[in-house]
Amino acid sequence: MINETLLKLAKEYNTPLYVYDLKKVKEQINKLKKFIGIYPNIEFLYAIKANYNPHLTKEIVKQGFGIDAVSLEEVKLGILAGAKPQKIIFTGNNMTDIEMTEVHKLGVLLNIGSLSRLEKFGKKYPGSDVCVRFNPNIGYANHKYNITGGPNSKFGISYLQLDEVLKIIDEYNLNLIGIHEHIGSGWLKINAPLKALEIILEIASKLPSLKFIDLGGGFGIPYHPDENELDISKLGQKINERFTTFCKEYKRELKLILEPGRYIVCQAGHLLIEVNTIKKSPEGKIFVGTNSGMNHMIRVPLYNAHHEIINLSNSNGVIINYNICGNICESSDFFAHDRPISEIKEGDIISIKNTGAYGFVQACNYQFRPLPAEVVIDDDKIILSRKRETFEDLLKRYNLKE
Ligand code: LLP
Repeated sequence: MINETLLKLAKEYNTPLYVYDLKKVKEQINKLKKFIGIYPNIEFLYAIKANYNPHLTKEIVKQGFGIDAVSLEEVKLGILAGAKPQKIIFTGNNMTDIEMTEVHKLGVLLNIGSLSRLEKFGKKYPGSDVCVRFNPNIGYANHKYNITGGPNSKFGISYLQLDEVLKIIDEYNLNLIGIHEHIGSGWLKINAPLKALEIILEIASKLPSLKFIDLGGGFGIPYHPDENELDISKLGQKINERFTTFCKEYKRELKLILEPGRYIVCQAGHLLIEVNTIKKSPEGKIFVGTNSGMNHMIRVPLYNAHHEIINLSNSNGVIINYNICGNICESSDFFAHDRPISEIKEGDIISIKNTGAYGFVQACNYQFRPLPAEVVIDDDKIILSRKRETFEDLLKRYNLKE
């Protein structure tokens, strides 16, 4: 996205502002289709949790993707965005009875990650199709908080408990049509995912009536300039080779499902914020204060994430080391520490890069601050997708009559 366009949007819609570029979303989708889609019987489900913005989701569904949903509300939003219920899988963590019933009523397949929920599902809906989430005892991610497999994980049923799964499946005559794993989010190296693939194939070899295997999501993007891109071509080749050989042994072609989220939307997103205060400590650190903070983008304090930052108002100035911080009364409220950036002045607009995934969707109203607006760019069309919240919007949620 060109800096001038972003500056223009900041002026027109004010800051803080999330901007998403649909062109980048489509580019990422095409990479997935080209390199991972070499296995012909493939289905991509968009992990809508990465960014549930309806304009983005609609476009992704239009490109042929289904939806990986983790809440009843995400399921409903996916349907609203045009996804057919048969192209949605619900992977609710610690699923409630209401979620189970409502999602099943909508005709969406449930992916169940605990023995007790599988039993409840079997009792209520004997003879139904079901998918089971296994923990392959491998976890891998860009941060420990993003690991979702391995010993003592809260996610999935351990693959060592397959016999117990089969007992429930048998007792309630369930059709175990799919098995699922998701070892973690944001990985850039393919060894661990390929190891986990071996485990899920081992499970699959003991289950003769499967229709699909779902390997989850997790495809990373390089946040730091020193990080290399994920070798998506090699990953696609390896998965294709291994899956094809497996299906020959299995004597039936299985569908392969993947659930990318971050890979599709992350690089399409920019958070534009305005600098209002610059101060230097006696020790020599320069603090750049802005009109946003961890309430709008929590990835830095929460995962120690690196997000590239560009001074849109002065992109070719002298490079100075800055500490870019927010306006929240918390000491962890930073966008970057000791970061070389082109000289910044009060009033400058800066852009926090790679914030299309897990950015706005993890924002909150902490310190009673409204959420930013969201703008979607579709070629030469600019859509104000979500209006900036106001004080009145925040008040509306309360019952002020009592
Ligand atoms: N499938 C399942 C079952 C998942 O739990 C997730 C992510 C995905 C797919 C999509 O993963 P992705 O392709 O986006 O890596 N808030 C964290 C990320 C949490 C991911 C949770 N699950 C962050 O900002 O890095």
